[in-house]
Amino acid sequence: METKAAPGWVHLFVCVNDRQGKRASCADGDAVEVRRRLKQLAKDRGWWNQTLRISQTGCLGLCGEGPNALLHPQKIHFSQLSLDDLPQLEQALEEAIGSR
Ligand code: FES
Repeated sequence: METKAAPGWVHLFVCVNDRQGKRASCADGDAVEVRRRLKQLAKDRGWWNQTLRISQTGCLGLCGEGPNALLHPQKIHFSQLSLDDLPQLEQALEEAIGSR
């Protein structure tokens, strides 16, 4: 194994876990579309790659409160996300990038 310093990106992990209706999971809501739109927003705003990463992830452990996302390194957990939250998420990302 090799270790190295983590890049200084702001990183939003969006849970897109899908349990196919057998149990609550983030894919039951808008998680996939929220991630897709935020990724496009990041590209449109010029935040992509050098500043911000938006990644899909598996379960973040709060499935019944999903869709969920985790902002790193700010340690902010967003729950019950929907497409209506995109403006607030954009603001949170902008603030996180500004504080790097
Ligand atoms: S399925 Fe998303 S937090 Fe568990």
